[in-house]
Amino acid sequence: MEFDIIIKNGTLITLEGGIKSGKDINLGIKENWDIGIRNGKIEVVAPGIKDSARKIISANGKIVTPGFIDPHTHLIFAGNRVDEFGMRLKGASYMEIREKGGGIKKTVQNTKNASSEELYQSAKQRIETMLKWGVTTVEIKSGYGLELGTEMKMLNVVKKLKEEGYNVIPTFLGAHDIPEGWKKDTYIEHILSVMMPEIAGKKLAAFCDVFCEKDVFNPNDAMRILQRGKAYGLIPKIHADEITSSGGAEVSGEVQAISAEHLIYPSDNGLKMMAENGVIAVLLPGTSFFLNESIPPIEKFRNHNIPIAIGSDFNPGSSPIISLPLIMGIAAIKYKLYPEEIIAGVTINAAYALNIQDKKGSIETGKDADLLILKYKDYREILYWLGENPVEKEMLGGRIK
Ligand code: NIG
Ligand code: FE
Repeated sequence: MEFDIIIKNGTLITLEGGIKSGKDINLGIKENWDIGIRNGKIEVVAPGIKDSARKIISANGKIVTPGFIDPHTHLIFAGNRVDEFGMRLKGASYMEIREKGGGIKKTVQNTKNASSEELYQSAKQRIETMLKWGVTTVEIKSGYGLELGTEMKMLNVVKKLKEEGYNVIPTFLGAHDIPEGWKKDTYIEHILSVMMPEIAGKKLAAFCDVFCEKDVFNPNDAMRILQRGKAYGLIPKIHADEITSSGGAEVSGEVQAISAEHLIYPSDNGLKMMAENGVIAVLLPGTSFFLNESIPPIEKFRNHNIPIAIGSDFNPGSSPIISLPLIMGIAAIKYKLYPEEIIAGVTINAAYALNIQDKKGSIETGKDADLLILKYKDYREILYWLGENPVEKEMLGGRIK
């Protein structure tokens, strides 16, 4: 048999065997193994592959991982929020700025005014940058439109990027805030009866998300929106307990969401409900770091065996940090997550959080050949050389980038 490519003598971090949770995560490391790749897929994972290949790449004992998966971003937006950053540096809080009409509302205005082409160009550039940092699959949320036209404009940009071969996964986040001049209940009604049918009907989103937070959408609102989304075939996700303990973790359990995200202040009952319903915790250490806020109760997730995924939350307000490896380092230092949890968090567990575990997230036969050869021989170096790009070579669908 002839392969397209063989990667030889890697220290493979395979992440084989499904979703990971608990205190003792096994990364499935294989030292000095090879990977045979054909038609964009991983065909053989074994030591000493003897077959021929059109191209042989020697990893020389360096780490080979699945491409990183970023399961939570808001990367389509126009403008920036550097003025607010300046205000925060002088003591204003994220929610105070929001109350004064800044925050998400400012980006909504900018995004409404931007053309599709502008949004497309900036999103593409951001995805290319992420790719250089090892991210081969990215979830992207809408939510800077808060009206049908702009939400569709954002989701159509994701569609276009997907058609061009990028691994992008769209989430409808119409319930990101309450638009200027609207009453909350009227807007929710509008989401349910106008936005959702159109967006789900055109298959522009795979997931539905809600910002469940004090003074934004409460748990009842979130339940209503996510239930209806489910009826339209949109898998529920939720921004839960990010700034205050607001009942989001409970909602994620009740609606059987695929994931609850942020989770700085989940209640004990919320965690129990997440565990009982198989909800994945998507943690966003870049946001805690950038807003200088608290951290989630990591030990409780471990005790409940709740699987942890890690994302960038890349957005102009709370996490303009485009480097997932930097965020992985922050996860180690600020969240005190173990290196094994962090690596599983940006690979196999992130794949589960996006329902793409059959294709991505591990080095196993039949999966897409999205792979990274890193600069290091010890995977802890990804966290240790904080701020350095760990990627030596990356492969997307069997093609070297
Ligand atoms: O995940 N919390 C809501 N959404 C984003 C922030 C978006 C923004 O500030 O523009 C988040 O932190
Ligand atoms: Fe977010």
